[in-house]
Order: sequence, then C-alpha cells, then structure tokens
Amino acid sequence: MADLKRIAVLTGGGDAPGLNAVIRAVVKTAINEYGCEVLGVKNGYDGFLEPGGLITLGHDEVRGILPRGGTILGTANRGNPFARKVIRDGKEVVIDVSDQIIQNIKLSGLDALIVIGGDGTLHTAQEMYEKGVHVVGVPKTIDNDVGGTEVTFGFDTALGIAMEAIDRLHTTAEAHHRVMVLELMGRDAGFIALHAGIAGGADVILIPEIPFKYEVIARKVMERKARGSLFSIFAVSEGARPADGEQVFSREGDQVYVARLGGIGQKVAEHVEKVTGSETRVTVLGHLQRGGSPTAFDRLLGSRYGSQAVRAAAEGKFGNMVALQSGNVVQVPLKEALAVPKRVNLQGDAIKTARALGISLGDG
Ligand code: F6P
Repeated sequence: MADLKRIAVLTGGGDAPGLNAVIRAVVKTAINEYGCEVLGVKNGYDGFLEPGGLITLGHDEVRGILPRGGTILGTANRGNPFARKVIRDGKEVVIDVSDQIIQNIKLSGLDALIVIGGDGTLHTAQEMYEKGVHVVGVPKTIDNDVGGTEVTFGFDTALGIAMEAIDRLHTTAEAHHRVMVLELMGRDAGFIALHAGIAGGADVILIPEIPFKYEVIARKVMERKARGSLFSIFAVSEGARPADGEQVFSREGDQVYVARLGGIGQKVAEHVEKVTGSETRVTVLGHLQRGGSPTAFDRLLGSRYGSQAVRAAAEGKFGNMVALQSGNVVQVPLKEALAVPKRVNLQGDAIKTARALGISLGDG
C-alpha cells in the first residue's frame, strides 16, 4: 500500500463526454477514502510547465460537473512531453520536455499521477512510468479503440448522437428519395459507424477494418430502388477506404499532430450519385459526437474508473490502467493494454448481425 497524501489528475488528447465524471470521482474518492489532497493539472502536461498550471481540487471545485461535457481541466492534443513544439530563436522546433515535467512532478510532492486519455496520451503515460513517474491510466475516447478494456468512456455518448443523426437523416431521406451519407468519427476503428449503423438501421456501413468496393455499395442502392425503397442511408467511418484506394485526410500529420482523417463521405456520395442517379447528400457529424452531456452509461463508467484509479494508486499499482472486463472494473498493465490497438472483430457478433440484417458492409 502506498501512503497517499497528494495526487494529481490530468486530461490529455481530444475531449470525450464523461471526463468530468472521472475527475469528480477521483477527487471524492481520494478525499473521502484516503484523506488525500488532489491537484488538477491544467491543459494536459502543459500544466506542469506553466505558472498556475496546478490547481487544488476539492468538493467545491467538482460540485455540479457530473452532467457537463468537456473537461474542467482543459486538454491539449499537442501536449506530448516527448515532442513539444516551442519557438527557439524565432524558429519552431520540437523538443523533449519530459525531464522538466518529471522534475516538476517531484517538486510538487506527488505520490501518484492519474492520466485520463486515449491511445496517444496513454502511450505517453507508459513512457512517463518507465521514467519513474507513479502513473495510473484511465482509458478515454469516443473511438473505443483502446485495448485491454471492453469499452472506453465517451463511446456510448458518441454512439447515441450518431444514432440520432441517422434517425433524423432517415425521415428527410425518405421524403426526398435521396441517398444520405453520414461520415462519422473513429479514426482507424469502425465502432461508432458499425454500432450506430446497426442501431439506426443504416443500409450501408463502411468501416476501416473492411475495405469496400464502390460497385458493391452502388449495387445496394440499386437493389433497394428495384424493391421500391427510393432512399438509402450510409454510415461511413472517417477511416474507411476503398479496396483499391487510400484513406482520405483533411490535414497532414507531423511530429506533433496526428494526421486528421476526413472527406471519404464526400467521395462515396459523388460516386453513388454518378452511378445510381439518386440525388445524394453528405453530413459530416464531426465534433458534435464529442460535445455535450454524457449518457448515464458514461457517467457511471467514468465514476467507476475514477474511483478505481485512486484505489490502484493507493495499492501502489503504478503503470496500470483501469479497464472494464466482463462487467467489472479491473486494473491491467498499461503496456499490455496498449500492445495492440482495439479494432472491430470481423468474426464478432456485431458484424454477423449487420450481415444478417441485410446491411451492406461494402465487401463481397
Ligand atoms: O480520437 C477522437 C477523435 O474525435 C477522432 O474520432 C477524430 O478523428 C479526432 O479525434 C479529431 O481530432 P481533432 O479534435 O483534432 O479534430
């Protein structure tokens, strides 16, 4: 057992609904169960480098934040301590500031650092752990692409928003006899499009794990038309790609930024309209999937993760990540969880269900 006197919590990478539920649970569990002081680190690791970057979090600071989206701490997706962009002699350079951060963590007298983040932030957390920082990870992302856990918090909220978008597109698609293409987030994992597509009754679902053929998706629209269904709904992951082509990016990546996916929906729509003659429209749901109030599931999971993360710290289980396995919140080594990114299981029941329902996955 580690004697917890002072811990800190930070949120890194893109935000996800439920971050505030985790922060609140960390603060309450640390104070109520361990009499431990909690510091909040502002804007990811940046808070360790900037004056005023560490704030005390008590009951007052976390009151009323459970239903709020975003993160009261702020976040940064350029916040990698090992590759930080700074201006030196008027020029932009990328430097490693991890030693400076570790020094400041020591000076702050922290017994543990709880890092709430997705794949990128958790990889950084593992590297910080290897350099001696007492880290506990909490898996966050709407993409649901972190290994070692059945689900990340944030996914359920994004899924609900994506499903509602499909529902809304259905009524207007039917009224105008149109093909509606909805481009959804998820990076290289197709969970949002697959699950929302099934839940919303899409006719075509395109995910990165299954390269698609243009002729197959056009055929689906023609078959539906032949049966008298003059509209079709497509749920398309931003990371989907044709079997004979590449993923589509809206911005290139560099040492600091990951490349941003986006634009495949437009390409799919143009092709479908040309080949089938059906009027086609595109909706890119974008950051609406990340904003706003978390669902009950994400508030509950976030609270359970936050509470368990403090217990892990108290047990001295550093280098671990909290995770959901068989319905229980457990701890797994970060290294194990991050070894392989999670992707849609092509033999899993969700894929089988989609096919059984007659949904085209663009292959075959
Ligand atoms: O990882 C979460 C996510 O929302 C992805 O689904 C998406 O590709 C990306 O972040 C968007 O990032 P940004 O916030 O930089 O636009």
